[in-house]
Amino acid sequence: MVDSKGMKQFEPFRLDAVNGCLWRDGLQIPLPPKPFAVLEYLVGHPGRLVTHDELLDALWPETYVQPQVLRTYVLELRKLLGDDAGQPRFIQTLPKRGYCFVAAVTDVRAAVPVSPAPCDGKPAGFVNRSHELERLKAEFDFLARGQRRIVFVTGEAGIGKTALVDAFCRPENRGHAARVARGQCVPGVGVREEYYPVMEALGQLCASTDGDAACRTLSRIAPAWLARLGRSAETAQGVNHERMPGDLCAALEELAAVKPLILVLEDLHWADEATLNLVSALALRRAPAQLMVLATCRPRSVAAGHPLKALRQDLRVHKLCEEIALAPLTRASVKQLVSGELRQEDLPEGLGAFIHRHSEGNPLFAIAILEHLIVQGCLVCSQKADATAWELRTPLDQAGAGVPDELAQMVELEIERLNSLEQSVLEAGSLTTVAFSAWAVAAALEKDAAEIEELCDGLARHVHFVERAGEDELPDGGSSAFYVFAHGLYREVLYQRQPASRRARRHERVARRLGELFAGREADVAREMAMHYEAAGSWQHAAAALYSAAQHAKRRKAHAEAAELREQAQRMEKNLAARGDGQPARNTARKRQEKT
Ligand SMILES: Nc1ncnc2c1ncn2[C@@H]1O[C@H](COP(=O)(O)OP(=O)(O)O)[C@@H](O)[C@H]1O
Ligand SMILES: [Mg+2]
Repeated sequence: MVDSKGMKQFEPFRLDAVNGCLWRDGLQIPLPPKPFAVLEYLVGHPGRLVTHDELLDALWPETYVQPQVLRTYVLELRKLLGDDAGQPRFIQTLPKRGYCFVAAVTDVRAAVPVSPAPCDGKPAGFVNRSHELERLKAEFDFLARGQRRIVFVTGEAGIGKTALVDAFCRPENRGHAARVARGQCVPGVGVREEYYPVMEALGQLCASTDGDAACRTLSRIAPAWLARLGRSAETAQGVNHERMPGDLCAALEELAAVKPLILVLEDLHWADEATLNLVSALALRRAPAQLMVLATCRPRSVAAGHPLKALRQDLRVHKLCEEIALAPLTRASVKQLVSGELRQEDLPEGLGAFIHRHSEGNPLFAIAILEHLIVQGCLVCSQKADATAWELRTPLDQAGAGVPDELAQMVELEIERLNSLEQSVLEAGSLTTVAFSAWAVAAALEKDAAEIEELCDGLARHVHFVERAGEDELPDGGSSAFYVFAHGLYREVLYQRQPASRRARRHERVARRLGELFAGREADVAREMAMHYEAAGSWQHAAAALYSAAQHAKRRKAHAEAAELREQAQRMEKNLAARGDGQPARNTARKRQEKT
């Protein structure tokens, strides 16, 4: 296990000052000394502008160095961290001034109980998923018989696809030696650069300890591929410069004859078509080969006509691939994950359940929520006798409100890829509960219901966090489809990103439409109407709806319910009287909605 002392953490990385490297998921990422020093300085001063001069003084005291040099290092760091200058998660450039490290940084020395590490003796990190690891191992065992394997690991963002693949690629988890080459697909790159992830994987193969053998094989059988890597010295005459998939397949097969080869292709939903065709070719070839293509993807992120859909379907029909779909972590596993992160077996009362509930078993979300609690000062590490322990400073029901910033940004990035009408549709969907109906969205946006339903169906097909869940029968004899958000966090971000006044107008329209649709039967939907009116700040209408619901309850002899509804209605009238303008002081409706 890694000694965490002296480490700074910014998820998913840890900066190790002692060894001068980064860690990610237990894997060491080496860094040249200067980029490391730049990163160390920025991480040491998070959340503020670090000017070029300050950085240069810190790194090269008494030497004049051109500020441009910093740019090169920052570029290198961004690549390594997977950061994007346009949407920085780690290093933000402040033009002409300097840089700001924008991610939350925690001091691991302070955060982790120093000794003894209680837990259960296992290293922090990978939990559950033993069944999936076993399946991967069983697939790997086929290679020894010369049977190639294509395996897709699927699931939503943050569910743990990469963590599973990384765990499987660690030799101690697999039991047999293998070459591993990994290529990452990047959104937007596929359209500009064919074979982008494949080239990355080949680069790794050639740079590995027995990379010379890989280079020789490529040079003999697939020289155009090697040339494209910039590794072949001679550009011999007569060599075909086009990268032919068949050549590469043959070269990989030859390499895999000596030692099993695992070709990891990450996030295949962003792959270019040429890469997908190569996977197809590797799957269809019949020669014996100890070759495993291990691809991760989010099946819900691909649109109907996306070639990945066809590829998976085709391979499945011909029984040429295996799929491992990752389910959310159970409550016990989330607890274990939190225990591992905090290095503490006995968690504060309710913490595991709270994080499970809010993350809905998604490990990325679970970790973000945990950090959010720490950053907010709700969860603190305190020294007791000679040991340290994590405890709650504020009760959980008062803390952890809202979406952790990083998650909100992640969701925001996904939303921004949609066109403005699609964004509005999802925003309007977030006005109700985690489930929303096409008619309500149409009402909120003042659009035609059929048109909106068609749009929602399209979204449900290509946006991974929305699903079509069924059809509602409407009182007028018609029907309207309804949809659910895969995760409450998506809905929360969509709700919060709407300017309050626009949101209020949309709530008001949904309430009115409810009244029209259920004319004569308003009592059935009075609570829902009241909720929308209240959120819209139309307290008079909200109170009226609640009184009508109370009367209805009384007629049904549901006296307790009637009393509760009247009480709510009176509270609303009080608000109305106090403010006199019908505007809610705070969005209490929203709070109530969360609880139901
Ligand atoms: N089984 C697990 N045990 C512990 N941590 C996990 C597990 N699965 C995922 N994580 C953590 O959750 C985060 C998201 O996981 P990741 O594998 O990157 O998701 P994906 O590749 O599906 O988007 C990472 O920080 C990862 O370390
Ligand atoms: Mg991943």
